[in-house]
Amino acid sequence: MSANPRVVAARALSDIAVHGQSLRQVLAADLPVLEHGRDRAFVSAIVYASTRSWLRWNAALQLLLVKPLPRKLAWVQALLVSALAQLEDMDIAPHAVVSASVDACEASGHGAQRGLVNAILRRWLRERNALLKRLDENVEARFRLPGWLLQALRRDWPGEVDAIIAASNREASPMLRVNLARMDRAQYLLALDAAGIRAQLHSWIPTAIVLEHSLDVARLPGWADGLCSMQDGAAQLAAMLLDAPPNSRVLDACAAPGGKACHILERGPVALTALDRDLQRTQRVRENLDRLRLTCDLRTADALQPDAWWDGQMYDRILLDAPCSASGVLRRQPDVRLHRRASDIPELAAQQRRLLPTLWPMLAPGGILLYATCSLLRAENAQQIDGFLQEGTDAEAIPIKLPAGRADGAGWQILPGEDGIDGMFFALLRKQPGDQVRGARHIDEAPGTLN
Ligand SMILES: C[S@@+](CC[C@H](N)C(=O)[O-])C[C@H]1O[C@@H](n2cnc3c(N)ncnc32)[C@H](O)[C@@H]1O
Repeated sequence: MSANPRVVAARALSDIAVHGQSLRQVLAADLPVLEHGRDRAFVSAIVYASTRSWLRWNAALQLLLVKPLPRKLAWVQALLVSALAQLEDMDIAPHAVVSASVDACEASGHGAQRGLVNAILRRWLRERNALLKRLDENVEARFRLPGWLLQALRRDWPGEVDAIIAASNREASPMLRVNLARMDRAQYLLALDAAGIRAQLHSWIPTAIVLEHSLDVARLPGWADGLCSMQDGAAQLAAMLLDAPPNSRVLDACAAPGGKACHILERGPVALTALDRDLQRTQRVRENLDRLRLTCDLRTADALQPDAWWDGQMYDRILLDAPCSASGVLRRQPDVRLHRRASDIPELAAQQRRLLPTLWPMLAPGGILLYATCSLLRAENAQQIDGFLQEGTDAEAIPIKLPAGRADGAGWQILPGEDGIDGMFFALLRKQPGDQVRGARHIDEAPGTLN
């Protein structure tokens, strides 16, 4: 296997953009072939930038080609798209991009395509201004998002859509969650500083530190010992909003890869059951628990089939971090824009609609369920919660107020980039005590604000 960074980047990009594989999995498999950390960082930067801009630079490529490249030349297509991203988004010198891309053809066994790659990139450089104008006539190329998603965002967030698009197309600063059970956040910042890693405290999320640059997690002080985790600030709000009291029974119904489950456990001793229906993803929860030295009752199970896993004892807190479109996290997961289809949204909404009433009977009277998604679409967020509340259940919404975002229906919506964090939706639902549940345990704290 070749270790030429541009060869590796083009192969990864064709696997993601043409063959539909997940960016995270492709990079996890491909980066280890590169010996030097510097090359791994470079490939990762190319793949993120090119995936984010695939819809733009692939459209540019179609303007440059006489006819589309056949699927067997997907690698060449990806090489050319990644070269345009290097020229236009990464500001790499044109002569370096052109000559390294031509050399990559030889190194990857595509020597016959050297002339084509050279000619296409040189034509781009000559005709750039005119081609950029033509590109802007194509909305997907202009906004780097699929048409169906642009339409949905314009419908749901007409006043905010420009800011959402801009944030979704910007690289996000990496964020850490400091394990406060083990170390104070300011102390961890000092440890980062001592390790030469530039970072700052997030202005209001008490566990969050924002890093200036991406880095290999192995460089983070105490990473292997569980002093911190990589997690966006918005995701860090879930455990705080859920606010599980000490020794309470907690269910995380859709737990993998375990970011929020681990945070719940870091906040204090609780009896946590963490479920996920995906075996491979459940193994990632196990790895995270082990690294952070945490324990819980971890199961691979379908939350919609409680007969298979529920012992009949009610939970004081339930986190339903529902499967969703991930439309709020495009800046960190740029491949979502290429892989999601408009038809996924009603399917996801149907799953969300089934999960809520299936889990609700497992919540103790006075207990609280936190519904969360990393979606921006109302069909997955406010409309789900408002529909559930209207069905005449014993649920009442607890208002949420956070420094970023706005109330939306009975929940709270953060849009991507607000205070530097990802787009997320939260709704807190409390189960009202009723006659049929007299004698059950009550928990009367009033969350909805952070502590
Ligand atoms: C948004 S992710 C959860 C992220 C996780 N809470 C975290 O913070 O790391 C949604 C998860 O729900 C899982 N899932 C989807 N449907 C499920 C079901 N019916 N039962 C259990 N897990 C489910 C998916 O496998 C996926 O891992």
